[in-house]
Amino acid sequence: MIELNVKEYSNKLKELNVDHYVVEHPYFKEVEDVLNYCKLTFENGASTLIFKVDYGYIAVIRRDDCKVNLEKLKKAAKTTLLTMATNKEFSSLTGLEPGSARIYIPQVVKTFLDKKIFEKKYVQAGSGSFTSSINYKTSDLINLPNSTIVDVGFIKSASDSILKSHYSILTGITPSGSGEVHIGNYLGAVVPFLELQKQADKVYFFIADLHALTTIQKRDEMQRNVENLVLSYLAFGIDTNKVVFYRQSDIPQHTELQSILNNITPLSLIKRAHAYKDKLQKGTNPEDINMGLFSYPILMAADILLYDPDYVPVGDDQKQHIEITRDVGGFFNKTYGKTFNLPDIFNMKESARLIGTDGKRKMSKSLNNYIAVFAEEKIIRKQVMSCFTDPNRIKATDPGRVDGNPIFTYHRLLNDDKKEVKDLENRYEKGTVADVEVKEKLFQAILTKFKKERELYSQLKTNPERIKMILQSGAAKARLQASKKMMEVREKIGITNKYSSFSYEK
Ligand code: TYM
Repeated sequence: MIELNVKEYSNKLKELNVDHYVVEHPYFKEVEDVLNYCKLTFENGASTLIFKVDYGYIAVIRRDDCKVNLEKLKKAAKTTLLTMATNKEFSSLTGLEPGSARIYIPQVVKTFLDKKIFEKKYVQAGSGSFTSSINYKTSDLINLPNSTIVDVGFIKSASDSILKSHYSILTGITPSGSGEVHIGNYLGAVVPFLELQKQADKVYFFIADLHALTTIQKRDEMQRNVENLVLSYLAFGIDTNKVVFYRQSDIPQHTELQSILNNITPLSLIKRAHAYKDKLQKGTNPEDINMGLFSYPILMAADILLYDPDYVPVGDDQKQHIEITRDVGGFFNKTYGKTFNLPDIFNMKESARLIGTDGKRKMSKSLNNYIAVFAEEKIIRKQVMSCFTDPNRIKATDPGRVDGNPIFTYHRLLNDDKKEVKDLENRYEKGTVADVEVKEKLFQAILTKFKKERELYSQLKTNPERIKMILQSGAAKARLQASKKMMEVREKIGITNKYSSFSYEK
């Protein structure tokens, strides 16, 4: 083993004239956890991939939001053999544990630096240890021995994850908190949904009103929130000719299936669920947690499994719920024979977990750290103006940090005037623009981005009869599918027999 500790490695980088700084963090094995902890997104991270080629091993450094085009790499590396090193090969070559790869690996014949790395001033990557990472100045990476710049990376997009040529999708949103849709919902769930709906064979979208009962127990609030969400999602361009759009409470089969799934779900699985664990961590007495919250993941599994979707477009915060759905569906299939399709999560890495305006936690309705899409202009302005920026920047003339700064994260994702974003970033880094100008421009960019949707929202609000018809027709179609599935479930679990006369209402 050739283990160099982080200090020695850092000294080596200095010798090679690679400017860098070490960032310490808790023990993390996953890149995603490190980046989340450091409030960075995938585009700010980089990883080293080791490949076996005709003449030994090579390293490829690519940004974490990119994939490598293997054909292009083969050409650039002038090799016919190109296989990824196994964990064992990696460790015996580098002396490091798999997953802790450094950017400088002296044992490789050549290091290929993907071009996209240089779009960032710094990228964060491995240090050889799971408790620290290193921020490398990208323009210095070319000082690494035997390194060369290549154009082999491409940004992973939504369509890369689609494996099936025919697929169905389903997703939902809970009318909790203020019942408003925020830019986190838009980027994390609406954009992937709109992307998927174009090609999908079947599409289900519902308002999870029964889920909201865990926190909303006032009739007026529930009614207001549901209306808000229905109007918001229609205004986003849900294609109601294609999408089955409905309210969860209009389909009693969701709760019926939940009660059946309760019986095959181990308690230990639900005890690990984030929503429940978060409450415990915040000091809530387990005796005071309502059963709705506790069994939330089982209702969610029922919501999904009834419709056999292939993909569920949701943000990262719902990832665990989709895993639980797969587990619960799998237990049922194992016990009673194949009944449910086990779906995959679908999202776009760069916006799957949007940071909130407090700069600390994910954007969320209940944390009040959000920017609403359909609120009055003065409210949106206030939300934008209250956004956390670079805390080390006291005056407008101080150079500021753009990466990991929420206001710039939002600019990059929502401001369609890319030239303006670049200009603001440059001026911010030099200290020639005030925070207030950056925020004002973001506010204007949000209004421009959602102009059409905001107008449509107001129009729809004046036509409740039309909305009612859309939801009625959605519920009728959803009930048809849900009834079909539930008849199959009833049959499998042995509830139906020669004496049964039950059938679902059409
Ligand atoms: P909800 O209402 O909290 O959020 C709706 C959608 O928005 C995504 N989202 C985010 N994405 C990126 N960054 C953020 N900061 C952010 N905040 C929210 C969520 O991941 C979600 O996709 N339990 C679900 C609703 C639900 C559901 C389902 C979804 C009930 N049953 C079945 C899919 C399938 C929820 O409360 O989402």
